[in-house]
Amino acid sequence: MKKEPTHLHPLYLPCLLMFLLSSLRPITGDARARTVKVNCSPLPEHNETVYVPNFVATMEKISQQVQTSGFGVALTGSGPDANYGLAQCYGDLPLNDCVLCYAEARTILPQCYPQNGGRIFLDGCFMRAENYSFYNEFKGPEDSVVCGNTTRKKSTFGDAVRQVLRKAVGEAPGNGGYARASANAGESEESAFVLANCWRNLSPESCKQCLENASASVVNECLPWSEGRALHTGCFLRYSDQDFLNKIPRNGRSRGSVVVIVVSVLSSVVVFMVGIAIGVYICKHRTIQKKRRGPNDVEKMAKTLTDSSLNFKYSTLEKATGSFDSANKLGQGGFGTVYKGVLPDGRDIAVKRLFFNNRHRAADFYNEVNIISSVEHKNLVRLLGCNCSGPESLLVYEYLQNKSLDRFIFDVNRGKTLDWQRRYVIIVGTAEGLVYLHEQSTVRIIHRDIKASNILLDSKLQAKIADFGLARSFQEDKSHISTAIAGTLGYMAPEYLAHGQLTEKVDVYSFGVLVLEIVTGKQNTKSKMSDYSDSLITEAWKHFQSGELEEIYDPNLNWKNQNDSISIKKEIVRVVQIGLLCTQEIASLRPSMSKVLRMLKNKDENLPLPSNPPFMDERIMEFRDGSDGDSAACASLATIAQSSFYGR
Ligand SMILES: *[C@@H]1O[C@H](CO)[C@@H](O)[C@H](O)[C@H]1NC(C)=O
Ligand SMILES: *[C@@H]1O[C@H](CO)[C@@H](O)[C@H](O)[C@H]1NC(C)=O
Ligand SMILES: *[C@@H]1O[C@H](CO)[C@@H](O)[C@H](O)[C@H]1NC(C)=O
Ligand SMILES: *[C@@H]1O[C@H](CO)[C@@H](O)[C@H](O)[C@H]1NC(C)=O
Repeated sequence: MKKEPTHLHPLYLPCLLMFLLSSLRPITGDARARTVKVNCSPLPEHNETVYVPNFVATMEKISQQVQTSGFGVALTGSGPDANYGLAQCYGDLPLNDCVLCYAEARTILPQCYPQNGGRIFLDGCFMRAENYSFYNEFKGPEDSVVCGNTTRKKSTFGDAVRQVLRKAVGEAPGNGGYARASANAGESEESAFVLANCWRNLSPESCKQCLENASASVVNECLPWSEGRALHTGCFLRYSDQDFLNKIPRNGRSRGSVVVIVVSVLSSVVVFMVGIAIGVYICKHRTIQKKRRGPNDVEKMAKTLTDSSLNFKYSTLEKATGSFDSANKLGQGGFGTVYKGVLPDGRDIAVKRLFFNNRHRAADFYNEVNIISSVEHKNLVRLLGCNCSGPESLLVYEYLQNKSLDRFIFDVNRGKTLDWQRRYVIIVGTAEGLVYLHEQSTVRIIHRDIKASNILLDSKLQAKIADFGLARSFQEDKSHISTAIAGTLGYMAPEYLAHGQLTEKVDVYSFGVLVLEIVTGKQNTKSKMSDYSDSLITEAWKHFQSGELEEIYDPNLNWKNQNDSISIKKEIVRVVQIGLLCTQEIASLRPSMSKVLRMLKNKDENLPLPSNPPFMDERIMEFRDGSDGDSAACASLATIAQSSFYGR
């Protein structure tokens, strides 16, 4: 949820503990938090004001169970908007990775809204919510398979897969629904890896039926391709020629185990004590804060806002959007829906209607409105106002005709609209917006979630940075340790991922990733299923080193046909170099945004050579040269708060 309070909310304490845990213990797991498929239920919810709180409550309850056992079921409410939920991580996922996968699922599933439920299969976990009890279902018309059909294998691979599938499907029902199996390459056979997992609430008999059917489906439909997944109502099954499974934890009685246990008990104690210390500190801090701010702070702020010009009448906004007509919907994210509207005076607006109108979040809402409304710059999306008194929380922004940058640069056809010159203007504009946020506005703001979908384009294709939902002024919080990790995987600086260190350099890093995406037309996070490749940054870095940058340019840059192609060519290389300077692993080496802007504009200034970026192996989501290998889990923590202005 995006609207976190400025001060650490007790809700974050478990997260923080988890985070500390994961940063102390070496974990080499992979949360496999990639979405395979989302199926939304066919029927819409019945009554929004009942449905949304029920859904949120169910997710909270499941969250707690998942943290301790990797599985959870919960029911909230009754009647047509009752919410039955289930979440399960696959058996090979370490518990902290499980929490990360769950968090990812939880941010994506609300995209089914206003449908009254849905299910999501990720590579590491599963989640489902409905308004009826589905707990005994194990097959249905939604059962499907997804084949990774990039590599065709020989028939010997098929034999190996069948054999390994038989083993896993045979074992799982008697083993709590989970089994893994693999065959290693022999003389005549090839490697094959299988994961079979039923939802834990199913009986062994139902589990068996589900897996047998799933196994037959992948064999029939996916072989001889290298990769197959069955997404069934009661189970998940996957085979692959790659070893995607997490390492089996060494909990045997080997000689080293005593030491391991002692160390881990010790570290748990340390974590526990640190946690308590932090808890005590926060509670004190909050009490002081409360005293200082007075008990009626929120009411006062609300009144100020109601009286101010920032306040829009609910009825005005309702009329402007045609009562939130779905025809006016611009997009939908995990946190709210954005509608286009027209005010009586003819002005176009974008209205963000937040899902969660819980009264206790009102303070954060006002806080956000206060912060954003004080910030004005040509490269920042303007917040025109809000309505905080109606039945829902609404934010009113200026409307930008061309929506967001990701719609252009990652689309082969729309990408043609943006040649190099236009992209250069967007890069400079984004840099100017960030310089303003970091250094020139009255409050110092770190955006924390700079990415292509948060860069909107006006009618002249000028960049405007959107969504200050995650922005925080940290005048009060000088600790530089962020209260809750938020951001988007692929755009997050390593020190922020691993240690929660929040400085402006976190935005500089994301900006660097964005620059490389703009030049290449490729998404840093995009990894084709079953086809693992280098991250975009690593790729750019390698090509920069070898002097073969042109190979990775987006053909839509269309620079070769220009008259001054030589100077353009120099300019692109320069911009890539700046992108690489921004994504250097060591934060202190990254330039400040004002430095970046100067480098962009002063084309004769000599640039330093970039040092290496954080090398990430996407396949295991691990920093290859990380100091202690503790970053894997943290890398996925980033996925917790993914969102963007119009949704994904
Ligand atoms: C939805 O439920 C709320 C609370 O029970 C009720 O006040 C409201 O009238 C309902 N809305 C509709 C459209 O039925
Ligand atoms: C689930 O929701 C749909 C649509 O609102 C409704 O028709 C159906 O009766 C609900 N199911 C239950 C069990 O209440
Ligand atoms: C994989 O299969 C899907 C559907 O069967 C098809 O649309 C897609 O083009 C195939 N991809 C490749 C690389 O063969
Ligand atoms: C799986 O079950 C469905 C219906 O339950 C059936 O139609 C289908 O043929 C089965 N698939 C296989 C491969 O057995």
